[in-house]
Amino acid sequence: MPNRLDLPAGFRWGASTAAYQIEGAVEEGGRGPSVWDVFAARPGAVRDGHTGAVACDHYHRWPEDVALMRGLGLDGYRFSIAWPRIQPTGAGPVNPEGLAFYDRLVDALLTAGITPLPTLFHWDLPQALEETGGWLDRDTAYRFAEYTSEVVDRLGDRVPAWITLNEPFVHMVYGYALGIHAPGHALMLDALPAAHHQLLGHGLAAAVLREHGREVLIANNLTPVRPASDDPADVAAAEAYDALHNRLFTDPLLLGRYPDLSAFGIGEDLGGAVRDGDLELIAGPGLDGLGVNYYNPTRIAAPTDPGLPFAEAPIEGVPRTAFGWPVVPDGLRELLTGLRSRYGAALPPITITENGCSVADEPASDGTVLDPDRIAYLAGHLDALAAAVAEAVDVRGYYTWSLLDNYEWAEGFGQRFGLVHVDFETQVRTPKASYAWYRDLIAAHRERSVS
Ligand code: BGC
Repeated sequence: MPNRLDLPAGFRWGASTAAYQIEGAVEEGGRGPSVWDVFAARPGAVRDGHTGAVACDHYHRWPEDVALMRGLGLDGYRFSIAWPRIQPTGAGPVNPEGLAFYDRLVDALLTAGITPLPTLFHWDLPQALEETGGWLDRDTAYRFAEYTSEVVDRLGDRVPAWITLNEPFVHMVYGYALGIHAPGHALMLDALPAAHHQLLGHGLAAAVLREHGREVLIANNLTPVRPASDDPADVAAAEAYDALHNRLFTDPLLLGRYPDLSAFGIGEDLGGAVRDGDLELIAGPGLDGLGVNYYNPTRIAAPTDPGLPFAEAPIEGVPRTAFGWPVVPDGLRELLTGLRSRYGAALPPITITENGCSVADEPASDGTVLDPDRIAYLAGHLDALAAAVAEAVDVRGYYTWSLLDNYEWAEGFGQRFGLVHVDFETQVRTPKASYAWYRDLIAAHRERSVS
């Protein structure tokens, strides 16, 4: 069995974060309000009323955070740019202080020998755009391309590859269908235009990035979908769920068409959102890389509620993270080999842009933070990744989620995903045992690659 040290020479090691989850300083540097500021202030929206107003205070402490990355020996750092820092109202002139923040960060990363991998949209839409319809409004896609142009004009000379969107599936479902995330709409299937407009925004932004000669990726949340049994009703339900979760956000990019969503009563025009020429724009000349965010597989059974064509079934007999998510490392191999079978030559090289787990970590009396469950999770998933590579899937890098404990959206500060523990009262950062483990793995892999 291949293991993580067998990953190819030149394989890129990284860690990921996102702006609203770490930056804080929401009213500083000319930043405008985002949908998350407004949503988090709503009573009952977020566990314990937590907001990202301070988060990890990364806006002020970024030099310390870059030093932590350097200590890991990372090749790359995936972070997101807060659109409301660049364009406080989502349109019009840029805010120079906002751009300057990311400009300094990019330079510091490069000085530390770390390649920046920015995500242009990780869910923090300027609130002003929400007031004109957010991603339900087609115009938001055009605003996104304008914002991209401003950012890449300034940073593109030093940043070779860019991620347009983070997890458009999760943003559509949690933000627009269920109302669990900002902007908090519970539209169920009427949320589908938010999928199309995000993808259109991707296509328009990708064209801008290509004009600058930059590489284009997207980070999709993907899950291998397993039917609960061989019963044809379970199998059909699993196919329906797979179309919604995986294919809806990957087929248009790689195949230039939407999947069959007829099980949901949805036609090919996604509720009237798709116009002539949109799919060509979305697919463009293809992606330079597919970012895959993987956490766990999904088990699906025939529906119990007549409103949807599927029901989620529990995965039994496996460990669970503090969040309650099943830990199934081989699901990553299954996902990656499944993508290769599904898309064949249309599948670009893959980068794992997120993978990690929440653990209820707290410092021991001697100040150390031991997180053996996280180490086991990472080791298992990296071995599964090496197995997929041995089965000829082209995977170029792995960015763990996350560098720091941070603001876990609707869970507030209740779920810790970091390699580095953050005390949210004092902002003291304490590298956990998993930090040392990841650092040593990176060094050992590098040594093996050169020898
Ligand atoms: C998101 C992250 C989030 C992580 C853990 C992904 O869905 O991109 O922002 O913190 O999963 O829930």
